[in-house]
Amino acid sequence: MKDIRIGIIGFGTVGSGLAKTLYEQKDRLRQKTGANLTLARVADISITSLPKEYSDVVLSNDANDIFNDPEIDIVVELIGGMEPARTFMLTAIAKGKHVVTANKALLSIHGKEIFDAAVKNNVEVGYEASVGGGIPIIKALKEGLVANRINYIKGIMNGTANYILSQMTDRGLPFAEVLKKAQELGFAEADPTYDVEGIDTAHKLAILMTIAYGLDVRLDDINVEGISSIEPIDIEYARKFGYRIKLLAISRNHGDNIEARVHPTMVPENHMLASINGAFNGILINGDTVGDVLLYGAGAGMMPTGSAVAADVVDISRNILAGAINRVPALSYLPEHIGKPRITPMTDLVCPFYFRV
Ligand code: HSE
Repeated sequence: MKDIRIGIIGFGTVGSGLAKTLYEQKDRLRQKTGANLTLARVADISITSLPKEYSDVVLSNDANDIFNDPEIDIVVELIGGMEPARTFMLTAIAKGKHVVTANKALLSIHGKEIFDAAVKNNVEVGYEASVGGGIPIIKALKEGLVANRINYIKGIMNGTANYILSQMTDRGLPFAEVLKKAQELGFAEADPTYDVEGIDTAHKLAILMTIAYGLDVRLDDINVEGISSIEPIDIEYARKFGYRIKLLAISRNHGDNIEARVHPTMVPENHMLASINGAFNGILINGDTVGDVLLYGAGAGMMPTGSAVAADVVDISRNILAGAINRVPALSYLPEHIGKPRITPMTDLVCPFYFRV
């Protein structure tokens, strides 16, 4: 049976989750792919040893040790941020390695460069974990909903922000205290400003819009407002009027322009998205053929995100075994490409928070 050898760069929360998944699900993954998915190398500058179950794994503090190992098939970048993550991805691709990442910030800014390089070098890029944590939202949009014109995407896409808003609503806790707890639980970004100011959500919306519409969407194209100025009194008033405050990412296809925005939103209590609480994500997509589809699940955390990264590793491994590379680039510039998205006024069933009384 063939060995598919994997190298992980960055052994933090998600890297540990992937290693644990590969270790604990080894037999299942072997049965489902027909190959041994072997974690062969880890590179991380801040650790000096790995847990004892990974005694066969070579640890190094230099990512080049992974790129230069001809036996590594798949490189998983889990350090986050722009540099050196971008260089690591491009180097791995140039070396003919398939790459997997959870790095939404990187893809939303350098996605085109990375995908173009992958096409040129005949390798795949997996990025299921970049949006929605453990929810298979990328596969849903790329595959399950491929025969649809996507009319809208509305989603809770940041576990930290949703956890904070939920705890403020249900337990009346102050913003700062809940943020600290979310950081301890490992949901938050290294810079939690990204979570609470809507930037992380906007990165994720940009990735989904890229798949849905074939647009190279940039952060600047998206109107972004976060939750840091929300006070308990806002939540209380919203509740009195029958609403829950949620940080939503919204994209709506108007044909000749596409809305793209992220902001706190007053969601009617009986709307499906209103019942999504804690560090969970919920993404509602409407396709012209299928109608509404709601994907719900753990949007952050070690094992859910590790599960999504592992799914990419399995997908790529199956393609390696089949000798077939999934060459469909994410930035496909579909015929319906209609220029840069333009922010248009909201006409939705959910009222923007800034319309509050
Ligand atoms: N900081 C992110 C969140 C992690 O809270 O959702 C998952 O992308």
